[in-house]
Formats: sequence, structure tokens, C-alpha cells
Amino acid sequence: MLLIDNMTLEDVSGVTIVEEECFSQPWSYQAFLSELENDKAVTYIAIEDYEIVGFINAHFVLNEGYINNIAVTLTHRRKHTADMLIEKLVSLAIDKKLAFLTLEVRQSNEAAINLYKKHGFLEVGIRKDFYDQPKEDAILMTRKFDI
Ligand SMILES: CC(C)(COP(=O)(O)OP(=O)(O)OC[C@H]1O[C@@H](n2cnc3c(N)ncnc32)[C@H](O)[C@@H]1OP(=O)(O)O)[C@@H](O)C(=O)NCCC(=O)NCCS
Repeated sequence: MLLIDNMTLEDVSGVTIVEEECFSQPWSYQAFLSELENDKAVTYIAIEDYEIVGFINAHFVLNEGYINNIAVTLTHRRKHTADMLIEKLVSLAIDKKLAFLTLEVRQSNEAAINLYKKHGFLEVGIRKDFYDQPKEDAILMTRKFDI
């Protein structure tokens, strides 16, 4: 059974492993550690059979939310893990009365773009050459909340 929970100190290694598997320029162990001490940061983990299989990280600043990262380990994809992580974050955003959640995503990342669209995010702009390794534009996607 899949569980969603807050990241704690003992989860940081597992989250870093998922991050390294999923991104060409991964955040370090230290970067996730500092998220634990950042009172603006929210990191939820997905756990199956005691193993961390995914996570989502966001920053809530005043009434604005920025999703930095979502990732699911290769062997657990297409099982609605990312759906559950986003639903948990969206429900926190609504509880905290955020005006919106926003994020950047690589233009070629069809899986992530579909995921965000499924959860009500709209394409609102493009950031030219936002990414390196490889260089690529970002699509800016936002979900607004009624407040
Ligand atoms: C994007 C990612 C997090 C999706 O995780 P996942 O757990 O496999 O996704 P889910 O099973 O919850 O799928 C949810 C929805 O996302 C979309 N989706 C997920 N994978 C997809 C794929 N390979 N192709 C097309 N759409 C996809 C679909 O809309 C899907 O809904 P559906 O199953 O009802 O069609 C995962 O592919 C990943 O970790 N990718 C690498 C890291 C990354 O690119 N993160 C995004 C950075 S902005």
C-alpha cells in the first residue's frame, strides 16, 4: 500500500536517491537536508513497502506556492503515485489559502505536463532557455485557487 507522509531526517537519503535517478542536475543530500530547516518548504514522500518511491517539494511564500520538484522512481511509475503526491500538496495549498501553485517544466516533458494538466494546471508562459543539460525552454504552469 502506498503512503504519503512528510519528509523527516531519516528520509533524506532515500529522497536523494530518487532525485539522482530522475534528474540530470539533481539536488544534493545537503539541499534536501536544508529543506527540513526551511519553514517555507513542504516535502512529501511516497512510501511503498518501507521504500521511498517518490516525493514532491514546494515552497509556500506568503500566499504563493512554487513546486520545485516531483519525481517517482522508474520502477513505480504509472501507478498514480504522482497523482497522490500532487493531491496532497493541493489540499495543503487550499487549507493554507494560497492564491495559486506554479511551476516550470521542460517543454519536452510530456509525462509531467500531462500530470499537471490533469490536476488543473494551465500553461501560462514560456521561459526561454531556462534549463541546461540539455538547454531547453520551460513551460510555466499555474493552478489558481478561489480565495
Ligand atoms: C512525471 C512523473 C513524476 C509522473 O509520475 P507517475 O507516478 O508515473 O505518474 P502517475 O502514475 O501518478 O500519472 C498521473 C498522470 O500523469 C500523466 N502521465 C504520467 N506518466 C506519463 C507518461 N509516461 N506519458 C504521458 N502521460 C503521463 C498522465 O496524465 C497520468 O494520468 P493517467 O494515468 O490517468 O493517464 C514521473 O514520470 C517522473 O518522475 N519523471 C521524472 C522526473 C520529472 O520529470 N519530474 C517533473 C519535473 S517538472
